[in-house]
Formats: sequence, C-alpha cells, structure tokens
Amino acid sequence: MDKRENTIALSQEDFSQAGHRLVDEIAAFLGKMPEGPISRGESPREIAQILGEKSFPEQGTAAADLLAGVPNLLFEHSLFNGHPKFFGYITGSPAPIGMLGDMLAATINPNVGAEILSPMATAIEKQTIQWLAEFIGLPASYGGVLVSGGNMANFTAFLAARNAKAPAGFKEEGLAGNAAKMMVYCAKTTHTWIDKAATLFGHGSKAIRWIATDSANRMDIQALRSAVGQDLEAGLQPFMVVATAGDVSTGAVDDVAAIAAICKSHDLWLHIDGAYGIPAAIVPEMKGLFAGIEAADSLALDPHKWLYCPLEAGCTLVKNPQHLTDTYSSQPEYYNFSQEGESRAHNFFEYGLQNSRGFRALKVWLTLQQVGRQGYAKLIGEDIALAKYLYELAEKHPELEAVSHNLSIATLRYVPLEKKEESYLNELNKSLLDSLQAGGEVFLSNAVVHGKYSLRACVVNFRTSRKDMEEVVEIIVREGRKFLVKP
Ligand SMILES: Cc1ncc(COP(=O)(O)O)c(C=O)c1O
Repeated sequence: MDKRENTIALSQEDFSQAGHRLVDEIAAFLGKMPEGPISRGESPREIAQILGEKSFPEQGTAAADLLAGVPNLLFEHSLFNGHPKFFGYITGSPAPIGMLGDMLAATINPNVGAEILSPMATAIEKQTIQWLAEFIGLPASYGGVLVSGGNMANFTAFLAARNAKAPAGFKEEGLAGNAAKMMVYCAKTTHTWIDKAATLFGHGSKAIRWIATDSANRMDIQALRSAVGQDLEAGLQPFMVVATAGDVSTGAVDDVAAIAAICKSHDLWLHIDGAYGIPAAIVPEMKGLFAGIEAADSLALDPHKWLYCPLEAGCTLVKNPQHLTDTYSSQPEYYNFSQEGESRAHNFFEYGLQNSRGFRALKVWLTLQQVGRQGYAKLIGEDIALAKYLYELAEKHPELEAVSHNLSIATLRYVPLEKKEESYLNELNKSLLDSLQAGGEVFLSNAVVHGKYSLRACVVNFRTSRKDMEEVVEIIVREGRKFLVKP
C-alpha cells in the first residue's frame, strides 16, 4: 500500500477553500455581532431540537459540507461574550488574533508537556509566563505554567503550597500521616475554587477558615491575625493564606501588604488569587491597590479574563518555580525527556497537573504582543472607567440604587419609587436578572452585597462604550418597571 485511502486528510486545495470560506464567514459574523442580540434566549430544550437527535453517523460527510452548515448553527444559537453588552460573570471579549492563534496552534499540535515534543511552543510558553510576571510588576525570575483557567491556576498553586508546607514524608504518608490538621485562611468572599480544593484534595471543608470582610469587602486583617493565633494555640497547622486581588462579586482587592506581614511572621504560604483583577496593576492609578504582591509565593492570573484571550487560558506564577517541580515532577522509565546540566529540558508536565498539554500559550503570546503594555493600560483603564460610569448613572437615577464599584465591577439594583421592603427588592431583582438574561439585550450576573441582591456588571470587554452603559440603564429601568405589582 503506497498511499492510504482515507476520509480524514484534506488536499491542500480543499483545505484552502474550506478554510478561506470559514474565515470569511467568521469575519462577517464579527462585523455584525455587536449590532445583534447577545443570545436569542432559547431554552435548552429548544436548542436540543435545533441540533436534532441524530445517531452517530455510519459514514462520514465531506469536510466542506460540514463546515458549510456549522458556522450558522453557532452564529445563530449561541451566547456571545464578545458582545459589547455582555458583562456576566468574568469572561473577556475574545481578541480576534487569539482566534487565529488557536487555529495555528492546532495546526502544529505540539504536545507542550515535554520540550522535546514542542521545542518552539515550550519556548513561547516560557516567554509568555515571563511576560505575564513582568506585566504585573513581578521579577522575571517567577516561573509557572499555563493552565485552563482560574480554578486550575489556583489548584496548581494550592497543591504546591501544601507540598512546601507539609511535614516531611507527606508524599509517602499523605494527609493521614500529619499530626496537625493543615489550615488555610481566606476572606469569606473568596471564589468557590477554595471549597473544591479543600474537599477534593482531602483536607475537608473544615480546613478552611473563612475570614470576615470589612465594610469595603476586604479581608479583615485583625480577624485573620486572631484566627491564625487561635489555631496555633489549638495545635492546628496554619499553612496558607489566600488573598484575593479582585473578588468575583464586587472586585475588592485585599490588603496584600498587611496579609503578607502576617504570613511572614508565621511562615505561611501567601497565595494571591488575581485571576480576574491583577491585570489592573498595569494601570498607573491602580498600582497602589496591589502593593505587596511581590511578597506572594504564588499567584493565579487569567489571560481569558482581563487580558481578552479566548478561553481557555489561566496561569499559575510561583516565586520559586522549584516548588512546582517538587510537587509535580515524576520520571517514569518510559519518558526520555530529561537532559541534565545546562541543557536540562523544561518539561511543562513537571510544573502542573497535566501531562499531554496543548499550545494555549500561542493565543496569549500573540495577544500580548498585539496589544502591548500601553495598549493594555488603556483598555483596562477604560473598562474601569466604564464600570464607574455605570455606577454613577445608577447613582443619579431615581429608580436605581448604586451598590458598589471596584475595578471594573459595578453592582446596582432596581428600586421602585415607592418604598419597599428588602425582601421584596431582593425577589424583584432576582426575577429581573432572569428576565434580562433571557431577553438577550444585555447580559448581567448577580452579586449579593451586604444582603442586597444586586445586578452585577463586570466589564472585561474592549467593545463596550459609554453609549452601551447608557442603554443598559434604560433597559434595566424599562424591564424593572414590568415587575412592579400593580396596586
Ligand atoms: C477571583 C476568581 N478566582 C477564580 C475564578 C475561577 O476562574 P475560572 O472560571 O477561569 O476557572 C474566578 C472566576 O470568575 C474568579 O473571579
């Protein structure tokens, strides 16, 4: 058999034709997407009907035929987080260069687990990590690994912290061998990844000390100090404090310098969850908010949030990268990946949980270069100003209450002119949010701030303008009025 007959390869010409057509359709979609709805609000049942129930095909279909139909299926029945009025949760508007980067990455398809399998991709990922550290003002000596997102970036650091602080013999004996229970401290506003980490990695949710927050939603430093002190007295082993730089609900940034001082005096690992907020450190007026981040033993930061890279891209940075290799490296006999001495291979499988790894660095590397430091300072600064503008519009509107504003997150709620009880306002805003999300004109999520169920807008979106914010206010008020119970 000189040449295999197969149904998977494409000739150069067929690839070129199908690819050009697809790219042209994507370009047209991106051109008109901002003017259309964010989604059509179709229910999962409607979506399933549109997709249709088909059994697994016995025979294949030509690639060109498949690619002719699929773009519209997605363009017409998806939710677009690149839309200028998408402000839900925290997902950045994806940079177009990142879309093309992903296609190129899949073309080379390097396995960025081992350097020998991905020479240029490994070098690009190393450079990307170094740039991300520099970007937020850390020395280039920080090392790390790219991961799928914030949860994974935080998990990767959590396990490294535990390995660094656990008593000798931990790798062999596991947690059961520990005389003292290992405790982690974080503000009660910390993202849910910490619950998953404590429960899934065998510590149990009781290993988390939830520290109260102050009126500005930041970790109460005195409460942290007391909790650590009490646990030490009780014979427990405090090992890690998680500070958050931009909390998921309101964007509050913990006082990292004060937390770092407590960590230093008790030899605790300081981790900063900056998955969302830490890129704001590049904005000169914001830099002071992040004072002390260079004391972090580890940080999480997500290019797929405020660096506008397409999903998925998260990053764990570690002051001493050896903590990652100490945690994750293993050398099975079937790997011939390590070289010693000067040419020691940089194998990313030794830096995190994944073994085979894709080339997610490419889209990040390209986007960082396209935008540059000044470009990011401008975009991120504008996002912050837009969230502030929304907050101010809410402050001025008699039927809105501005609840909080930090970084690029504003929270607000609809309040009817006639005075109503808190429980009524909470229910009203909950229903209003559902209706706004289904309506497809604007996508907000929610936050409960000091007991107030609020609408929450997080602007990590280079397409959003002041006009969008003015329209968002009109939409919220127009829809909010519909929920008023008529006397
Ligand atoms: C502060 C913070 N940490 C972690 C995460 C989890 O990130 P991901 O959804 O990328 O796993 C988020 C998500 O919004 C977040 O805001």
